[in-house]
Amino acid sequence: MTATEETPASENFLRAYHDRTPGSMASSALATRMSDGRTSYQFLADHVTGAQHVLDLGCADGTLLAVLAGNGADGLAGIDLSEGELALARKRPELRDADLRLGRAQRLPFADDSFDAVVSHMALMLMSDVERVIAETARVLKPGGRFAVAVGAGPAPGSGFDLFLSLARPIFAAVPPERRVPRMGDRRTRNRAGLDELLAPAGFDAVSWQEITLELTGTPEQVWESAVPSYYDMATLDSENTNRLRQEFLAQASALFPSGRLDGGARVAVAATRLGAR
Ligand SMILES: C[S@@+](CC[C@H](N)C(=O)[O-])C[C@H]1O[C@@H](n2cnc3c(N)ncnc32)[C@H](O)[C@@H]1O
Repeated sequence: MTATEETPASENFLRAYHDRTPGSMASSALATRMSDGRTSYQFLADHVTGAQHVLDLGCADGTLLAVLAGNGADGLAGIDLSEGELALARKRPELRDADLRLGRAQRLPFADDSFDAVVSHMALMLMSDVERVIAETARVLKPGGRFAVAVGAGPAPGSGFDLFLSLARPIFAAVPPERRVPRMGDRRTRNRAGLDELLAPAGFDAVSWQEITLELTGTPEQVWESAVPSYYDMATLDSENTNRLRQEFLAQASALFPSGRLDGGARVAVAATRLGAR
């Protein structure tokens, strides 16, 4: 970032949040599975099978990079805003040779044509100036290289996460503006047509698009524990509102799911494309 560029408020928020609670987003995501038992990290990694040199944008604690290492990739790199997250990634034995950088995906510290694939799990959708992130991705990818991203597609209708969000939304909306989560990301990253619009000018082919449901069957308390780190807005609530939301969620979950077990149910979309020959 040059002296004249200001760090967006969203990035300051993300850095502080992830430095405070490193690893929490990944453990929440790892608690959920597809019906075939795969995590969303494994599902995304399967879109770049065979790629040796792979970069993860917003790699956090290295969960996806570890899956890629397990799949046989051996030239791994990651970039993230949060040193707290990267410190966890650096402790993973399978990432001891990985090139892990503190920085912004808008300015990648890697040479042109370095990677066979670039991936990003639940991070591209949060990034400001996403056109620049995509231009940088195209620059560091080899011609024909793959780009695969997972983006949030909301709670599954009628699920425990859906209940959580329906109760939480009005409470999030009542937070004073100066304490709210800053606006982040570009809506176009969350749908197929929007991504195609962003990717085509950088030379990418049209994306393939798959939506998956991630299940979490557990007690209301387990679904609560998993949902809380998934929503940045939870960090803006004081303890009184957090407790109120928790009590409401547990009471309604018990009433709606008398068996005592409910389905977490989150939706994730995975888009994949290739860089056309330049
Ligand atoms: C929701 S978390 C997902 C982390 C990880 N990919 C996962 O799924 O477990 C988003 C991550 O993206 C990182 N991030 C957001 N904007 C970024 C940017 N412009 N450059 C680099 N990292 C960024 C955040 O610091 C955070 O670690």
